Amino acid sequence: MIDLKNVVKIYRTGGEELMALKHVNLHIAEGEFTSIMGPSGSGKSTMMNILGLLDRFDDGTYLLNGQNVTHLTDVQSAKVRNQEIGFVFQSFNLMPRMTLLENVALPLVYAGISKSERKDRALKALEQVGLADRVHHRPNAISGGQKQRVAIARAIVNDPVVLMADEPTGNLDSKTTLEIMKIFQDLNDNGTTVVMVTHEPDVAQYTKRIVSFKDGEIIADNPVSERKKL
Ligand SMILES: Nc1ncnc2c1ncn2[C@@H]1O[C@H](COP(=O)(O)OP(=O)(O)OP(=O)(O)O)[C@@H](O)[C@H]1O
Ligand SMILES: [Mg+2]
Repeated sequence: MIDLKNVVKIYRTGGEELMALKHVNLHIAEGEFTSIMGPSGSGKSTMMNILGLLDRFDDGTYLLNGQNVTHLTDVQSAKVRNQEIGFVFQSFNLMPRMTLLENVALPLVYAGISKSERKDRALKALEQVGLADRVHHRPNAISGGQKQRVAIARAIVNDPVVLMADEPTGNLDSKTTLEIMKIFQDLNDNGTTVVMVTHEPDVAQYTKRIVSFKDGEIIADNPVSERKKL
């Protein structure tokens, strides 16, 4: 599903170079539910942005779902991202002027899906995250947890092979965090591969595997022994 081999990422700013990923190797199989942990600045978001084809890297290779995506152009990356990847951000990134339904349907516009099918699929995705009754609201009229559920609906509306999330519960209280983790567990039970960054060890216990970063390297990679089920 995901195969990173010797991936190196260097940030260059004002003549300074920082190696944010130092030859990272990571294999994630279909159906896994993995959390990425590690201190601030250890390279978690850098790797997630590479996994999500949101950023390029300097050396190594990336195979996604059997396809070598190491050297795609921006247009090719956008297409693969639209078809294969759902990405959820800590800060939701919803379009404020669009309704929840329109927000969720947006990836389908890029995918060239007809208007009536877009509506059906967006409604179904909103139902899956428990928001079927709010579809004509705008993002500023709902809570943070509900915004994140909309963002998850938008991420799954295209039936991605993998759902990626960078600190999806970072802005949420503990009760809402568990609601989001339950949605991720349900999606994973239904076959979606999930990869998420979290700072909180408690949250990672709801996933199946914990990969730990330090200074741009993976320093530990363990199954969650007593996984918590919601
Ligand atoms: N766009 C950028 N330009 C220059 N340096 C960057 C950039 N983005 C990240 N870095 C640096 O790369 C390193 C890794 O950053 P990254 O954002 O991946 O860390 P992180 O593990 O996600 O941290 P956090 O837990 O705070 O989100 C840090 O030293 C950071 O300062
Ligand atoms: Mg980060």
